[in-house]
Amino acid sequence: MKTKELTNTIKALFAGEKGLLAMDESIATCNKRFEEAGIPQTIEYRRAYREMIVTAPNLGKVISGAILFDETIHQFTKDGVLFIDMLKKQGIVPGIKVDEGTTDLAGFPGEKITMGLDGLKERLAEYYNLGARFAKWRAVISISPVLPSRGCIEANMHALARYAALCQEAGIVPIVEPEVLMDGPHDLKKCFDVTTRVQHVLFDQLFAQKVNLNWVILKPNMVLPGLSNPKPASIDKVAEATVTCLLQSVPAAVPGVAFLSGGQSAKDATAHLNAMHVKFKGKLPWALTFSFARAIQQPALEIWKGKDENIAAAQKMLVHRASLDNAARRGEYKPAMEEDMNA
Ligand code: 13P
Repeated sequence: MKTKELTNTIKALFAGEKGLLAMDESIATCNKRFEEAGIPQTIEYRRAYREMIVTAPNLGKVISGAILFDETIHQFTKDGVLFIDMLKKQGIVPGIKVDEGTTDLAGFPGEKITMGLDGLKERLAEYYNLGARFAKWRAVISISPVLPSRGCIEANMHALARYAALCQEAGIVPIVEPEVLMDGPHDLKKCFDVTTRVQHVLFDQLFAQKVNLNWVILKPNMVLPGLSNPKPASIDKVAEATVTCLLQSVPAAVPGVAFLSGGQSAKDATAHLNAMHVKFKGKLPWALTFSFARAIQQPALEIWKGKDENIAAAQKMLVHRASLDNAARRGEYKPAMEEDMNA
């Protein structure tokens, strides 16, 4: 096992107050975001968009690792530099999404299972040779009055553990992402209960598959009321529920937790991360950081709109957004900083 390399990757990813950028949207998800923003849904526009991101000046000052998608990891800037090399030049560790999306779970109406274990060992070896040093696998868990089922949780957490074991064997740090979706009218308590239960099963499965927790990154959802619940929860309540849930379910050997944003606004995601650091500073066994996609990219995407003349402004917004998340890791974020592009 490449233990030294795994340790170095973890160190680099959690350096200072930087965090991770998820830029690994599948072709279908990227096209959906483009459609909403009025951008043509072609391979060239997807390439140009990712070029805008990886060439953003100073991105490496605020982002420690970037998660790519298979299409993107093989692409070049218009000047012929592989995106993966561009990231390395910025001092950013390249990562790769290796799951192959979700499909209906047979026998469990309304629930999904993540695909991609077949051939994963070989794909990981290829990605390692390309330069990827960490990976991501996302499992999705839905909440309804009767969901999630035990069968769905166990099948998905088992797959996450099998993936994580293969990653470590390949010298790649696994991000394990059990995402409890925000859709639905459920309250914060229900999200707390489901997230806690899912993480207990996940760590049981990681133990059963002999995954070394020192080289695992957990990418969880924050604990929030469902999107169609009419009663919002305060920033402090979300921060407290989220960290309490993690403290009850995540072993101290795990080096870091990096949240997904899950459909929260960029400002809310930043404010929640900040409140966690304010309230629990010095009391947490793991690093607490971000691995946002929409909460970092969306404001920049809306500025870019597929137009070359907007690239510089979009890049500035991207780095600004991530720098606010850096401030949140210090517990120093203030909403007024949103307007100060030099913050
Ligand atoms: P969001 O931050 O947009 O939820 O995406 C994070 C992610 O990587 C989902 O797999």
